[in-house]
Amino acid sequence: MDKTQTTQNLKKHFPQIEFKDSPDDLLHWGQDWTRFYTPNPLCIAFPSNTQEVSALLNYCNSENISVVPSGGRTGLAGGAVAKQGELVVSLSKLRKLDKVNQSASTLRTEAGVVTKTIQEAAQAAGLYWPVDLAASGSCQIGGNIATNAGGLHVIRYGHTRRWIQSLEVVLMNGDIIELNGNLDKNNTGYDFRNLFIGSEGTLGIVTAATLKLCEPPKSLHTFLFALNSFDQAIHILAGLRSRGLVIHTYEVFSKNCIQLVQKVTQRTSPFAKDTWEQFLLFEIDTQGSPETLQHLNTYIEELFETNFIEEGFLSQSPKDARDYWFWRENITESLNTQGKVYKNDIAIPIISLPSFMTDLEKICSSWFGKEQLFLFGHIGDGNIHINLLKPRDMNQDEFLKKCEFHNDELFALIKKYKGSIAAEHGIGLLKARYLNYSKSSEEIRLMQETKKLFDTKGLLNPGKLFPSKDFMSLSSFRIVWKDYDLGLAQEVKLYPHSPKWSLAFDKFCELFVSSFPDLPIQFHHVGSTSIGDASTEGIRAKPIVDILGEVPSLDDLDSFQKKLEESGFIWKGENGISGRRFLKLKSSRGPETFFHIHLFQRGSDEIHKHLLFRDYLKAHPLVAQAYQNQKMRLQSLFHESRKRYTETKASMIHDILAKANFWYEQNSI
Ligand code: FAD
Ligand code: MLT
Ligand code: ZN
Repeated sequence: MDKTQTTQNLKKHFPQIEFKDSPDDLLHWGQDWTRFYTPNPLCIAFPSNTQEVSALLNYCNSENISVVPSGGRTGLAGGAVAKQGELVVSLSKLRKLDKVNQSASTLRTEAGVVTKTIQEAAQAAGLYWPVDLAASGSCQIGGNIATNAGGLHVIRYGHTRRWIQSLEVVLMNGDIIELNGNLDKNNTGYDFRNLFIGSEGTLGIVTAATLKLCEPPKSLHTFLFALNSFDQAIHILAGLRSRGLVIHTYEVFSKNCIQLVQKVTQRTSPFAKDTWEQFLLFEIDTQGSPETLQHLNTYIEELFETNFIEEGFLSQSPKDARDYWFWRENITESLNTQGKVYKNDIAIPIISLPSFMTDLEKICSSWFGKEQLFLFGHIGDGNIHINLLKPRDMNQDEFLKKCEFHNDELFALIKKYKGSIAAEHGIGLLKARYLNYSKSSEEIRLMQETKKLFDTKGLLNPGKLFPSKDFMSLSSFRIVWKDYDLGLAQEVKLYPHSPKWSLAFDKFCELFVSSFPDLPIQFHHVGSTSIGDASTEGIRAKPIVDILGEVPSLDDLDSFQKKLEESGFIWKGENGISGRRFLKLKSSRGPETFFHIHLFQRGSDEIHKHLLFRDYLKAHPLVAQAYQNQKMRLQSLFHESRKRYTETKASMIHDILAKANFWYEQNSI
């Protein structure tokens, strides 16, 4: 059924619900703050209450219509993007906000209430809603819950999760469930409430919640310091913590950030010198205690007297504090005025931050130049926002692809430091394909099974959190043959030149499938010939098996190895770089049945290049044709003269890549 017809049916079926489908509306409501994806929703529905959400989801489930839950669309991971004809379900009409319950210190709210309204309602009741972010004026409480938003006070109060007493959720089949009620204590097994918090709209739609409120901070003191190095910020953090001071916020931003805010807002920097590398903004709550204030002042004086800090400000009034915050709060908006920004929101254990930052700046500066790199974040939480600004002369697609390419290097570094690839913004569309960097395959499998439990047909926010079906079919387990002679990660099919070899291979596949029964594997082992493959090199060939996708855990591989050995294979293994295992496998069935196996991790350099190159060729048929022709020429050379073939090969690869204007040309293909 076409889009117009489906929209008409929806409108007819739900006359009481408002729908929008003008081209402007589709554009507006189909995207969030990432602004890298082309919106293409079916239409937008604006239900007014939980029952309407329930009826809508039930209908979509039976009609197989995919749904994207939509809050304030301030998300920075593409979670609310609708780019594949999904119905956008906006929660913005669910705006009922109860009175604060003073005895329980709670507040019942519908999902579409804007975060700032919640903060104001709490404040009016003498209480405090501790989740605060620069987007508070636009994001919705439902979106905060769905992303488990962090923000400026995580160091003191934790993420949104900590402040949710109960949830009302609508499942894809229309069921409405209430999780936890008004209970502080409810120790009765699985806590599904926590499953929905941070699930990014993939398990159900949050329609209402009861929030726990807390006491407001009593006496906040705000500081803005200039630093020579990032390490100083960590040193001061330790100093504050060791003195038992209550840290309310702890933020760092780099020189590039402050200079940009200066340029965009035309406000003059308060600092005399312009050579400072980093800036530290922090707040301490002395909680009305004169002793604590004295304690704090003594430490601050010490920092200045020992010249550990040379330039810095201490707020004397709320206006001062607002002035200091100006520099931090305007970074994101200022960056946005400069063009496309690729954001990476990551976390590292605080203890490793100084050395991580040195490594990070080194690698990131080499990508687009130091001036395109803007680092800031909630350093007290180990959370860094890495912002790459698109160079003016680069087109958007190329920039996005390059950033995605560099992600592998970045995420490998994060993995080395035992960090997380998503600290507070979530996974969404932006990082779905990289989930394996922060979650084990076992966790991902359990997550996928959990998703199926709540959304049997996979209609709720498809492609978010987990890689899309398309990507999965490319990157899930497959065995492909690779033409290494061309030096490109490219799929070729081999003709099995020897029955023995073929038997060995079949046995290998059989063992592989029985060892990893849940992995969708496709075997490509029969087909036309190619350079360097078994049929052209005859008995000397060492066919190569590539298993693209996430490799099983090392333990699983070890037990797989045992099975192989019991079946007469000899296994010589070694671990390689970037998640690559290089294994030599020799079958006792004959000397020629000897092949290499490469296991690539999903998200590793190799698979990523492979997929991008395939996509590139698919999108550029002329280049694909030229590439094919070069391969044919090379193939005929191979038969004429091995020497000429080898010499020509390198220059041809260079040529074809140059013609294709392939951006990772320099990157060790
Ligand atoms: P949306 O962007 O609309 O949606 C986000 C995700 O939640 C999507 O997957 C969507 O499908 C899902 N969703 C939305 N509503 C519901 C619902 N009712 N039920 C189920 N799923 C739903 N984030 C931080 O964590 N910390 C920050 O400090 C921070 N600062 C920011 C500053 C700026 C200037 C901007 C633009 C963004 C910032 N963000 C920050 C990111 C963003 O504001 C948060 O992720 C926020 O929680 C998103 O809320 P939203 O209502 O805009 O959700
Ligand atoms: C922030 O801390 O300001 C937000 O997470 C927004 C951003 O990363 O740009
Ligand atoms: Zn943030």
